[in-house]
Amino acid sequence: MTEEENKIIEEKPKKGSKTVWLLTGIIIVLAVALIGVMLYLKNQPQPTRGVAPIIEIADLDPNSDNWGVNFPNQYSSLQKTETNNTRTTYGGSDPYSRLEQDPRLVELFAGYGFSKDYNEERGHLNSLTDVRATKRVNETTPGTCYSCKSANNPQLWDKMGMLEYDKTPFADLGKQITQPIGCANCHDAETMKLVVTNPALEEALVAQGKDWKTFTRQEMRTVVCANCHVEYYFKGDEKYLTFPWEKGTQIENIVEYYDEYDFKDWEHPESKTPMLKAQHPEYEFYTADSTHFKAGVACADCHMPYTRDGAAKFSNHDVHSPLLNPEAACGQCHTDLAYVVERVKIIQDDVRLTMDTTEDALVAAISSIKAAAETPNVDQALLTEARSLHRQSQMMWDFIAAENSMGFHNSQEALRILAKSTDLARQAQLKTIQAAGTPDVLQGSSQ
Ligand code: HEC
Ligand code: HEC
Ligand code: HEC
Ligand code: HEC
Repeated sequence: MTEEENKIIEEKPKKGSKTVWLLTGIIIVLAVALIGVMLYLKNQPQPTRGVAPIIEIADLDPNSDNWGVNFPNQYSSLQKTETNNTRTTYGGSDPYSRLEQDPRLVELFAGYGFSKDYNEERGHLNSLTDVRATKRVNETTPGTCYSCKSANNPQLWDKMGMLEYDKTPFADLGKQITQPIGCANCHDAETMKLVVTNPALEEALVAQGKDWKTFTRQEMRTVVCANCHVEYYFKGDEKYLTFPWEKGTQIENIVEYYDEYDFKDWEHPESKTPMLKAQHPEYEFYTADSTHFKAGVACADCHMPYTRDGAAKFSNHDVHSPLLNPEAACGQCHTDLAYVVERVKIIQDDVRLTMDTTEDALVAAISSIKAAAETPNVDQALLTEARSLHRQSQMMWDFIAAENSMGFHNSQEALRILAKSTDLARQAQLKTIQAAGTPDVLQGSSQ
């Protein structure tokens, strides 16, 4: 070995150690960056594992078939909602008539569409067929009725604005609506994050000083359902879709809101009461401090539990009654499945029984008000008070009756509201005695 070569060999480790330091440095920087990316991704909805996006989905694309190319598991589970038809004791996906099941409803909703046609709801993919088939829709129906039925909506709201959308008659707007509920109702096409798509929800949250964009992922797993599963009404001549949440989302806040705006859905033909109809307030009812909500459980935890298909783990988009798959829906948190499923039955039976009492009281109040109104020299001011009690009572009852879990989502709240509703209906009856100056007005009504 020459001296020259020796030198080089001696120098090598020196040069090498520099390179090693540099490489170590680069590796550390890359590792930190990788951990950062992994932490970021952990907080994002994950696409189906192992499947890279195949096609690019256009922003607000109403057609779920396109999204399905990239996400076949979510797509095929969503498709199942179309054919589900299993009935449970108080729910399920068989669209039976609620009027035949409980004829008191015909009396309570007399003079209103719900006394003619009122079916149990079913899976998401039927939304368009069912809204077009209901006898409650006629030539005066506003386009607003499509608001929670179609994946075309986010694009239409973006294009027309909600004011124009709502003003367009149902039949005209229908020409632009081809899709049932789909991916675009709940996801952003680029990031697949859950989003608020209904402008009425965004406005209602803003009115409460809330910005959904700051919500956590777990919060969004509930809020995304509030795009549709809420109480709402059509405001003013323009039929502007509005959630009555300005004073809060509890039933008392909602009744107070409607009273202040002097809003009525219809007038009851027998009692002449200006009435309110509750829609499907799952979100308001569940979030009124229910046990599960307080414990941080989201709608999607029970209705869209994780499912495995080989190596892929995904949220089951076959949304239906959790009583049809309690192992997946409840078993992730509860080990004693038989016990919790039995608890659901006990809660629902209790709520149904209590609701029967409330409905009897309401039917009685209606016939007493009618009888009092026909009495000579009836005190009109007291009669108005009786009607106001009827209005409040029926809306409170309906908040539980129209909510789709037969009280399960918030059992204590259900029993509290029904007790109050029954009391208000009986108070209405007492008022009619005062108004008419005779207890005869109670005749013919069940006590
Ligand atoms: C702790 C589990 C759980 C959570 C959380 C939950 N649900 Fe439910 N949900 C149920 C059960 C149980 C039923 C009753 C099903 C039945 O009677 O067949 C139900 C019923 C329903 C129904 C009627 C289903 C049918 O078959 O008719 C709808 C709609 C619904 N829930 C929506 C929601 C929404 C929206 C949220 C969040 C705001 C939510 N649920 C949160 C368990 C849950
Ligand atoms: C774009 C509006 C919309 C959104 C968002 C939405 N739903 Fe629905 N949901 C509906 C409509 C409309 C129906 C009734 C469809 C019918 O009967 O044709 C329905 C029906 C249901 C049913 C009854 C299914 C059955 O088989 O009886 C459940 C349960 C349900 N939704 C839960 C949820 C949950 C949980 C979320 C949030 C993860 C959610 N929905 C989000 C509009 C929506
Ligand atoms: C009613 C609302 C709703 C609709 C409609 C919907 N999703 Fe989802 N999706 C959810 C919820 C809730 C999650 C859970 C998100 C989370 O945990 O962050 C989810 C999760 C996902 C995820 C993340 C991976 C997983 O499975 O958890 C993908 C991908 C996805 N959905 C694709 C789709 C596609 C494709 C469609 C249409 C075929 C669709 N979704 C329709 C509500 C919806
Ligand atoms: C993500 C977790 C989670 C899921 C999913 C879940 N639960 Fe729970 N559940 C809880 C927690 C937490 C509590 C409160 C426990 C406590 O305080 O001891 C609870 C309490 C209950 C209770 C007792 C309180 C009450 O309201 O009576 C019942 C009954 C119950 N769950 C039934 C169910 C059923 C039925 C399902 C499926 C449809 C379900 N749970 C799904 C977490 C969950």
